[in-house]
Amino acid sequence: MYKLFKPALSIILPACLLTVSACNNSNTKSTINMTDSLEAKLPAASAFQKTIDGKKTDLYTLKNSKGMEVAITNFGGRVVSILVPDKNGKLTDVVEGFDSVEGYKNAPGPYYGAIIGRYGNRIAKGKFALEGKEYSLFINNSPNTLHGGKVGFDFKVWDAKQIDSTTLELTYLSKDMEEGFPGNLQVKVVYTLTNDNGLKIDYTATTDKTTIVNLTNHTYFNLNGANGGTILNHKAQILADTYTPIDPTSIPTGVIAPVKGTPFDFTQSTVIGSRINDKDEQLTNGKGYDHNFVLTKPSLDTPVATVVGDKSDIEMQIFTQEPGLQFYTGNFMKGDNAMKYGAKDNYRTAFAMETEHFPDSPNEPKFPSVVLKPGQVYKTTTEYKFSIAK
Ligand code: GLA
Repeated sequence: MYKLFKPALSIILPACLLTVSACNNSNTKSTINMTDSLEAKLPAASAFQKTIDGKKTDLYTLKNSKGMEVAITNFGGRVVSILVPDKNGKLTDVVEGFDSVEGYKNAPGPYYGAIIGRYGNRIAKGKFALEGKEYSLFINNSPNTLHGGKVGFDFKVWDAKQIDSTTLELTYLSKDMEEGFPGNLQVKVVYTLTNDNGLKIDYTATTDKTTIVNLTNHTYFNLNGANGGTILNHKAQILADTYTPIDPTSIPTGVIAPVKGTPFDFTQSTVIGSRINDKDEQLTNGKGYDHNFVLTKPSLDTPVATVVGDKSDIEMQIFTQEPGLQFYTGNFMKGDNAMKYGAKDNYRTAFAMETEHFPDSPNEPKFPSVVLKPGQVYKTTTEYKFSIAK
């Protein structure tokens, strides 16, 4: 399906013939690295041109003046591919995802690439109260509600308008009491590919009744390439002095705890896997990293987090106005799904950094508010920016 990258192949094959055992051993350097030998390219739009729930789905392409390309489908507003140059100038697809809309439709759990709403992350026991009224949500992550409930924004067909070659506007009207949330919520998400290799996401929402909103994006990144193997050797820096520890059901305990002296201290750039197996109650509760970091200084000018792929040297900086960042290390990935480039979604072969308000905020009065009232505008921006590490 994907063309083999000829120069790489002609070098690799003779090496394999000479040392067959080396080619069978996944720990040796001479192993064929699929991302080295496969040309990164966007999936065929035709594989996304279907009808779901009576609405047309498609694949939209953004291109900038630097040759960076991004593909997004309006099924769940999902980021399907991001092609950026690696240290050798070779285009690399840093998104783990599918090459057809069916792929996404058949894999509801992991939320690959999706816009998440109405409430990104968990709400304890699926219950919250607003203006004295109690609301109940669908429990889809027992005993809690995760990422919007039974059918979240990740499974909706959004109305799409390609504004120009670098801008895609997606809109969706979430009706009053959809998934148990009050108010008609009109949502707009604009993806913009900037000329300095940033993918900017602008979220806007308004409501006609008091409600709660917490939107995010759930792209799975592998900065070594979509078939680049483990992400445990990537380096990550998260500018967060504190985080929100969780109970065994992944609900914050309400405590804002310092990261200092714990495996959650990413204030200096650190290899992701270096402490992930430490004996630590929080790592046990999250089955790895699956925690909300309290960003020290949310900003669109200075990065709140930076991750570097160990093989590609591709660096991703994250800028956001959101107070929190959920860092998830693919702990629930099991290799069940056939992804782009013939890859499987194996354990910890991708990570997500979801910029958002804190989990379970509706039930934690001390956390920043997620309440949106009629007349107010929910407006927030996050940018993922790519370069080569210095
Ligand atoms: C979020 C959650 C994780 C997991 C993934 C999807 O990141 O915090 O616990 O559910 O989504 O698998």
